[in-house]
Order: sequence, then structure tokens, then C-alpha cells
Amino acid sequence: MAEEAILGYLQNNEEIKDSGEFAAERNIDHNEIVNVIKSLHGFRYVDAEDIKRETWVLTDEGKTYTATGSPEFQLFNAIPPEGIPKDELQKKLDASVFKIGCAQAAKNKWVEMGKQLVTRKVQNVEDKVKGLLLQIQQGQGIGPDDIKALKARKLIVPQTWKGYSVRKGPNYAPKRKQVVTDLTRENFQSGEWKELEFKEYNYSAKGAPLEGGHLHPLLKVRAQLKQIFLCMGFEEMPTNNFVESSFWNFDALFQPQQHPARDSHDTFFLDAPSTTKRLPEDYVERVKQIHEIGGYESRGYAYDWKREEANKNLLRTHTTAVSSRMLYQLAQKPFAPKKYFSIDRVFRNEAVDRTHLAEFHQIEGLVCDRGLTLCDLIGVLHDFFSHLGMTKLKFKPAYNPYTEPSMEIFSYHEGFKKWVEVGNSGMFRPEMLRPMGLPDDVQVIAWGLSLERPTMILYGIDNIRDLFGPKVDLGLIKKNPICRLGIN
Ligand code: PHE
Repeated sequence: MAEEAILGYLQNNEEIKDSGEFAAERNIDHNEIVNVIKSLHGFRYVDAEDIKRETWVLTDEGKTYTATGSPEFQLFNAIPPEGIPKDELQKKLDASVFKIGCAQAAKNKWVEMGKQLVTRKVQNVEDKVKGLLLQIQQGQGIGPDDIKALKARKLIVPQTWKGYSVRKGPNYAPKRKQVVTDLTRENFQSGEWKELEFKEYNYSAKGAPLEGGHLHPLLKVRAQLKQIFLCMGFEEMPTNNFVESSFWNFDALFQPQQHPARDSHDTFFLDAPSTTKRLPEDYVERVKQIHEIGGYESRGYAYDWKREEANKNLLRTHTTAVSSRMLYQLAQKPFAPKKYFSIDRVFRNEAVDRTHLAEFHQIEGLVCDRGLTLCDLIGVLHDFFSHLGMTKLKFKPAYNPYTEPSMEIFSYHEGFKKWVEVGNSGMFRPEMLRPMGLPDDVQVIAWGLSLERPTMILYGIDNIRDLFGPKVDLGLIKKNPICRLGIN
């Protein structure tokens, strides 16, 4: 109703000068008019300008007198024509009415406050105060002197009145069109969309609040491991190449070309680009030699080493591919001892089950120095794993093509009450290090483990697919706690 009134009025009139008057004339609540004006203004049906007015409203006391009459009037009426003793008059009236009434009536010269009696001085009086209060209550203006007097008596207080003056806006129409928010299949098919008016985008509206990023448990554990390595003085190796050549992933590591791991059943080979373009040729030659005929007191594997096999690109199957590149680079400069680490993703063509995925993360550490022994490896492993909260370690002889001796690492799990395998380690073979050009007395001790294993233990996850991959519950990523390595 308010909306029709406004739009209808503007059809034939230039302006609504004052929404307050407009509302009063039509007997519509002003608040309702204001809400409609705001909404029409938002859609530019109308242009609205603020108007402010100082008005007066009655205090509670003021309101009371509109019903009872002013105290002076009440007092005057309580006095009989023959007069009345003051104390009797007092009994007839409220304490405050009596007090104020006496003062005001005397001021108005309505009454005589005699020693014996209080008497009327005039026959009739008019309750002007009540009249004025009623006028204000009805929104009518009164003279400045009257305002001053009523204000002094705290019967009225000022109030700012807010309203609008309204004119047609750029989108003015006598009736508001229903704007549509979505283009639907139905109105698209029927052609109705041509007639429809679509709601404009509100670019300044705030979107739904974005949740902050959440760290995946693997990232949290990775950050802690990185910190442990850094505290132990290790440098991080650059691991930003998932694609690697077979050469760096296998051949440089003295892994024979017939090794089952080099089969496509175990490794993902690339279709495009299927081969690597560049390898350090003199080093490639020395690697071929060591595989075919040996050297450095090794007999080699005595087979026909094929360059094409080494050129094949693959998704790296372990981060030791990165270690081999780094050690080769190290060998190109005058020797300096190094401690390196990496934590990154590797890929294996494995059947996926509760504990295996085709991609996972490896943690790898290595120390390269003159005269290192297996004891150094055991010592470093104790140091490293104690930072992870694993203080009881056991080692078991193992086999890797690139390490000798090799050891599997076991740790006693207090919760599971058993020894669990936690990693693999060894001393890189001379067949790997010497062709690179590292000095004869330089040894490299190294170890590797998965990032998933400790993370699953720490977070109590027993199916790797709940930790990583497309089936992970996003709630886990949002709500997972901070689990600290070493204090569980
Ligand atoms: N590369 C080994 C693996 O993938 C781990 C390892 C790293 C073993 C370094 C020995 C030395 O399991």
C-alpha cells in the first residue's frame, strides 16, 4: 500500500516534499513509508534525500498531564469558591501536584496564598499547559516561548525526526517489476527470458566468508620433520621435479637395467616426453663401465648396458634420484662435507590397499664426509629418530642395489607393544660414488622413510586412503589437531 501510494503519487507529481506529511495525510505509518522509500531508492525507482527536523516529544510527566491536566489546574479546581486551609488542600492532592501546582498557580496569579486560607483569585482558568502538550503530541508546532517554558519544566524533550523528500529515480516505473535472479532452463526454452528483468549483480555485497586455509596432516608433519633436519644442520635438496630420467633414478644408483623395479609393472614411465634430452656424457660413460665391467675393485654386473634404457623418463620412484643428482654436483667441485635432506612425493605403480598408494612422500637424509662408517650411520639414526620420539631402535641387514651395508630400521612402538619398521638405510656403494668423482675416502650414509607412516601413527589413521587422495574427508583437513612428533 505504501509502495503504491509513493509510486502512484510520483506519476503525476514532481516530488514528495516530506515523507512525514505524506504519511500523515494518508494515514500510513511513517516507518512503513521510510522502509519502502529505502527499498525503492536501492533499485533506483526513486531518488530520496534525507530531511531532518528537530521535534519535541512529551516526557512521561508531560504525558501524565495530558490526561490529568496540569498540576496548577488540578490545584485550582481543588479550591472551593470560599477558599480552603492550606493543609486541607494539601491532603486533597498528590504531594508533587500540590507542590508544583502551588508554585505555578501563584505565578499565574490564579490563587491567593493567604495566611488562613488559600483562595481563588479568578473565576475560571484555562489549562493552557495541557493544551500545548496535546498539540505537541499530535505533531503540531507551538511558539518558541511556550517551548522554552515546557522544556524548563521538563515536560518535553527534543528529538530528531528523520524523513525523506522523494523524486522519480532513473528506473522509475509506476509499478515495481519483479526482478529475476536466475536464468532457468524453463524461461530460456520458452523465450520468456527476453521479457524478464534480471536482478543486477551487487558487486559491493559481501560474499560468504571464506574459511582460512587448513594444513593437511602430512604438511604439518612435514613441517616438523623439516625443522628437525634444519636443527641437525641439514640442507634441503631441491625436489621440484617429479619427472626424472631412469639414469638418475636407477643407473646412477648402480641399479641394474634388468632389476624388477625398472619394469613398467612397478614404475610409471612417461609417454611424452618419453626420453631425456641431456645427461652428463662423460659421467654416463663411467656409469656404463661400472655396470658392464666394474671398476674401483668391483666386478660390475657384466651385462650389456643400454643407453636407451637410461634415457627413459619416469615419475621418480624414490627421492634418492634427487640425492644422486646432488652428490654428482657435489663431486664436480673441490670436496666439502655435506648434510642433505629432502621430503617430497614419489610414485610407484602399486596395487592400492590400506597401506599403499601409487603416490606417497619420502623423507630422506644423507651425510657425506671422509671416513664415515656404519657406526656413524647408526649414531645419526639414533639422533634423528629420537627427535621423532623413537628412542628404541633395532637394525636388520637388508639389501638395496645402491647401499652396502644396508639396514632396515625398526622402532619399538610403546602403544602397539611391538617393533615396527620405520625406515631403510645404508652406506652408498663405491660403484655409485666413485664414477661421480667423489674422492676415494669419502663415504655417504643415508636413510629414507615414508612421511605417511609416522603421520598415520600420529593421527591414529589406519587406512592410507583416509589420509591422502580423492576419498579424504575434508572435515579431517579442517579439524585435525596439532600432533607433535616426539611427545606422543
Ligand atoms: N630409496 C630407499 C627407498 O626408496 C630409501 C633409502 C634411502 C635407502 C637412502 C637407503 C638409503 O626405500
